[in-house]
Amino acid sequence: MKRLSIFVSGNGTNLQRIAEYFANNPEVEIANVVCNNPKAYSIERAKNLGIPLRMITREEFKSEAFVKEMQDLHVDLIVLAGFLWKIPENLVKAFPKKIVNIHPALLPKYGGKGFYGEHVHEAVVAAKEAQSGITVHYVNEIYDSGEIILQARVCLDEKETPDSLAAKIHQLEQAYFPIAIEQVLRSQKD
Ligand code: GRF
Repeated sequence: MKRLSIFVSGNGTNLQRIAEYFANNPEVEIANVVCNNPKAYSIERAKNLGIPLRMITREEFKSEAFVKEMQDLHVDLIVLAGFLWKIPENLVKAFPKKIVNIHPALLPKYGGKGFYGEHVHEAVVAAKEAQSGITVHYVNEIYDSGEIILQARVCLDEKETPDSLAAKIHQLEQAYFPIAIEQVLRSQKD
């Protein structure tokens, strides 16, 4: 049995998709959802999905106690699904190649501090890029810079807007994030 912990801060469309994708997989279960934002719709989604919810404060998140809590849960993979805090070094070290993140652009471009959500798509459209996409990568101590696991691309149209690009990127996330997670879990077995 592989156990996932999904870290969220926002709407939770990736959480929803991942939960639905693995719902009928007897080998994979979601141990909990960790959320740092009391206003996140992800909270509703976790409740509706029947997944244990762990709200977290900044102090708790940086503590050794939280690392131990995650270890005691026997989590095989921590999945950052729109989680906006930087992962503390102690957690990264405790879960080597066991934390993945999805970024709504083709890293290493358009990554790092400040590049999240709409800000990413605004920058890509402003730069008149021919392509954009998603990047699923391992998480290390530096924002958006771990080893890349999977990238998927879309072309920008002449009249692309940040909103129209966001919709295209959302489709890619829904299609590929669960597959990337499955790929990582399989690689853990080998
Ligand atoms: C997604 O665009 C993802 O690429 C980024 O944060 C957003 C999360 O959206 N990391 P949601 O909360 O899963 O709907």
